[in-house]
Amino acid sequence: MQTLQYLILRDMAFQIGEMSAEQLLDGQAHVWNHLFSFINSMSLKCAIELGIPDIIHNHAKPMSLSQLVDALPIPKVKSHFVYRLMRLLIHSEFFVKVDVSDEEEKEHYWLTPASLLLLRNAPLSVAPLVQLILDPNMTEPLDHLSEWLASQRHTSPYELVHGKVLFEHLGLQPGLNNLYNDATSSDSRLLTHVLVRDCKQIFEGIKSLVDVGGGTGTTAKAIADAFPDMKCIVLDLPHVVGGLEGTNNFTYVAGDMFENIPSADAVFLKWILHDWNDEDCVKILKKCKEAIAVEGGKVIIIDMVLDVHGTDSGVRETHLLLDMAVLGYYNGKERTEKEFAKLLFDAGFTSYKITPAFGMRSLIEIYP
Ligand SMILES: C[S@@+](CC[C@H](N)C(=O)[O-])C[C@H]1O[C@@H](n2cnc3c(N)ncnc32)[C@H](O)[C@@H]1O
Repeated sequence: MQTLQYLILRDMAFQIGEMSAEQLLDGQAHVWNHLFSFINSMSLKCAIELGIPDIIHNHAKPMSLSQLVDALPIPKVKSHFVYRLMRLLIHSEFFVKVDVSDEEEKEHYWLTPASLLLLRNAPLSVAPLVQLILDPNMTEPLDHLSEWLASQRHTSPYELVHGKVLFEHLGLQPGLNNLYNDATSSDSRLLTHVLVRDCKQIFEGIKSLVDVGGGTGTTAKAIADAFPDMKCIVLDLPHVVGGLEGTNNFTYVAGDMFENIPSADAVFLKWILHDWNDEDCVKILKKCKEAIAVEGGKVIIIDMVLDVHGTDSGVRETHLLLDMAVLGYYNGKERTEKEFAKLLFDAGFTSYKITPAFGMRSLIEIYP
């Protein structure tokens, strides 16, 4: 189909006047769809800030527009704006419309699996990640991509905008640091829920594990609780783990993964390699290899692997969007299997196994 379009358009690339009305209008619609698609993100942010998923959930049954407006901290004259916000969020499948025939207002709103994950205090809420990613500190670098591409000086768009690389900046901004740590913890809670329930076998025979760049310890704590005989360590920067207390089989170490990684049977790297360029990844992986204490030890990586999900265009688009996002934040990248393989062979590992185990993300086990 794409090839056909190419053939049709090849000869008229510079002759817009010769495009049919349908081609012109389809082209315009395509541009508009992408031009305004950021409003999906902003509307989601607005709904979370207003607490709409929580309000509907607390109501415990579908809610009419006037009931919703009554519960919102907004003036009544704005109720029609809420209707328009909800109309878009229904279209994007965050809410559904339910017909309640025995009430005066027949249209009521209810939650979907996606908005259940936006409840503020739900154990597996992803709302903190939405709040971080749509915070202006994180969106602004992506507004400066072309300026960064043209510049020689700046290591990442984030550094161009904030004057510091992201992890250094977080160390100086306690509010943003908390927002970042809450967001990554929320992702770890959901993923670890699946990890310790459905993927227990990957920890077989492991007596100690170090979670490198493990944030405030959500993943390692869950693994330590699920495997009480395993000793778990979280290594992260001082502004992340300073002052945090461990438990019996779970400890924090403040340090730098480029300098030293504590010894363990297994090294865990979740959402780490995509933050770094290839050269830095090889340095990190070499340190991981040095840290593996026993024969039969391994590194367990959880990250996206591009192109392992076949032709699912939704997953592919999310992968490509995330790839641009990590470019904006860290000058990092999402990688294909071939790119991962190159990194780990360059770092001295001899084999690997990829399992697309976590929705959009994969489990990569690598062996010295
Ligand atoms: C994208 S977050 C991932 C956090 C956690 N693994 C997760 O998935 O929720 C990257 C983490 O790497 C940590 N980090 C960055 N540079 C580091 C370094 N040089 N040494 C240790 N940790 C580092 C950050 O502080 C942050 O917690």
